Amino acid sequence: MSDGPSRPLPAPATPPVASQGRSSTRLDHYVDRYAARTQGMTASEIRALFSVASRPEVVSLAGGMPNISGLPLDVVGNALSDLVAQHGATAMQYGSGQGDPVLREQICDVMRLEGIEAHPDDVVVTVGSQQAVDLVTRIFCDPGDVVVCEAPSYVGALGVFRAYEVDVVHVEMDAHGLVPSALREALAAVQASGRTIKFVYTIPNYHNPAGVTLSEERRPEILEICREADVLVLEDNPYGLLGFDGEPIRALRADEADGVIYLGSFSKTFAPGFRVGWALAPHAVREKLVLAQESATLCPPAFSQMAVSAYLHSHDWQGQVKQFREMYRERRDAMVESLADLMPATARWNVPDGGFYVWLTLPEGLDSKAMLPRAVTARVAYVPGTAFFADGFGSRSMRLSYCYPTPERIREGVRRLTGVIEDELELRATFGAGGHLLDRGYEAPNTDLT
Ligand SMILES: Cc1ncc(COP(=O)(O)O)c(C=O)c1O
Repeated sequence: MSDGPSRPLPAPATPPVASQGRSSTRLDHYVDRYAARTQGMTASEIRALFSVASRPEVVSLAGGMPNISGLPLDVVGNALSDLVAQHGATAMQYGSGQGDPVLREQICDVMRLEGIEAHPDDVVVTVGSQQAVDLVTRIFCDPGDVVVCEAPSYVGALGVFRAYEVDVVHVEMDAHGLVPSALREALAAVQASGRTIKFVYTIPNYHNPAGVTLSEERRPEILEICREADVLVLEDNPYGLLGFDGEPIRALRADEADGVIYLGSFSKTFAPGFRVGWALAPHAVREKLVLAQESATLCPPAFSQMAVSAYLHSHDWQGQVKQFREMYRERRDAMVESLADLMPATARWNVPDGGFYVWLTLPEGLDSKAMLPRAVTARVAYVPGTAFFADGFGSRSMRLSYCYPTPERIREGVRRLTGVIEDELELRATFGAGGHLLDRGYEAPNTDLT
């Protein structure tokens, strides 16, 4: 066959508008074919905010990005270059579905700081603790199952529960964390209704978004309640080493090996970009998690795991965590001091002992979601409380993060936010209530965590 002179290709026919089908950019051709579970997959309120909140003129008290500016990048860079030079072929290869054995041993050393005695065999490395929440939900939950969560709860976990069509039942928290009597009642009520509770999802330390910590007195009681009800606990603890005073708090898992799955992460104590977290689970559950991990990713990224492992091995990582704690404490102080100086007397907030977040409750009648566009116009951003509830509550509250902006920017942000709140109060005094959620008269769980 000769090549011959090339013939010009015929011009592509333009399909008539009605038959444009898949190539149409205006309509989603597959709209009626998605699985039912995708209906629960909506952009989180935080994501929707990101584009605006990341503009330099806006003080963002919204995102929960760890502030890694203090990381010794030269040390990390050297560790990475050694890793490639000396172990590149392994680091860039597929690894084990359960995760790197050396890293799993180091993870056990990290957890020992919180009183956990664990075997590396029971650890599964995940792509951030976010993936651990996903895998646990994947292996336990069928559509319609119940997961019990604090009120409010972590927006990323709520997104996972929605995606698996799980029903979330919120349980009241107060300044000392999850309220034991409320938990007991909620478990009993759901079980009496014949529904299956798959686990209690809890963030005991420096809660996201509430900023509160479960008191030491309540911990055995919470475990006892779950044991009696035969309900598993999912303990999510990414901020555990970021307490501002004293030693790390003893984990729930330290006192209950069979009834708790513990989740940890290097995102807040090292860097989120490596996406390395883990689950420590009872032996049989661990096997299911590995199978789920293999079906999701084949294996967690070997390169990231070996990088984290090298960092833990070659650097004073605990000294680095101490520096992070001091930086976050300074920022926490800037936030709570400026709130105390500036906010109207009827606003309330808590003073967190660690982590990244303050939960602020607005004066009665204000709605944080309705107020957000005006706040962004005033160049300050926050996350409305409704993002942290599966059921629409939280409209009078908001999450304020102090982890990322400098103390000066935090003070400026609080000053702008106070101006917006004062304007809202004035508007309300002039024109009356605007029909906000809380005016509908149904009873919200306790979101006043002060
Ligand atoms: C309570 C909680 N759990 C899990 C995560 C996910 O962390 P990562 O996937 O980065 O480990 C976060 C992140 O903000 C969090 O606040």
